[in-house]
Amino acid sequence: KYTTVIIPAAGKGKRMGTQMNKQYLELGGKPIIVHTIEKFDQSPRIHEIIIVTSKEEMEYFKKEIVSKYHFNKPLKVVAGGKERQESVYNGLKNISPEAEIILIHDGARPFVSLEEIEKSVEGAREYGSCVIGVRVKDTIKICNEEGYIESTPRREGLWAVQTPQSFQTSIILEAHKKAEEDHFLGTDDATLVERLGYPIKILEGGYQNIKITTPDDLTIGEVILSKRS
Ligand code: CTP
Ligand code: MG
Repeated sequence: KYTTVIIPAAGKGKRMGTQMNKQYLELGGKPIIVHTIEKFDQSPRIHEIIIVTSKEEMEYFKKEIVSKYHFNKPLKVVAGGKERQESVYNGLKNISPEAEIILIHDGARPFVSLEEIEKSVEGAREYGSCVIGVRVKDTIKICNEEGYIESTPRREGLWAVQTPQSFQTSIILEAHKKAEEDHFLGTDDATLVERLGYPIKILEGGYQNIKITTPDDLTIGEVILSKRS
């Protein structure tokens, strides 16, 4: 089945605190976003790659990333929006008409594995929707505004979800369309599908599939890279 990955990369990287957008920072001598794209470019399960960048960075992206690194798959660069959700939706509006399965994967998660990509594609085919996640290791507390603990959910059912989040095309299109109509803003794509009542399978991934968010993550990222090479 024709499978498209949408890679939202239109954020500002505020929490990294660097002048340059975090996704152009290098890990092992290569920009973070290049590591991410390469994984999907290498996966035999992916047919098309759509990268969403901000309007202002689009030319830079085409010149400094797309033309300098050699990707083999059909690749489109489209403009994103103010929120991640808008960026993904704009990616969805640019998928090939053949696309039957859609993977959505953060540009800032360069350590996704080929196994996780494969599992995601299989999961979307089998369950309609699936997300990669890991069991939380810490105990989670629900706190009030004043900073006091209110309750402690049982750890057994708690998962930290990552990306890829993967869907049959009609499901994710419907979910984004409905969210826009309702002015609903979610923090991930699965949330938009949940509110329509479709089942979403959680598939166990690994703890190395981190999102590069703060400077500490760069240090951890270098360790993950050196461990892998
Ligand atoms: N993203 C996007 N469009 C936005 C906001 C985020 O495509 N309007 C992308 C980011 O580029 C990133 C992914 O969504 O690859 C996950 O978001 P996050 O880690 O929060 O990145 P930023 O929003 O760039 O970082 P920050 O929140 O610290 O500003
Ligand atoms: Mg953000």
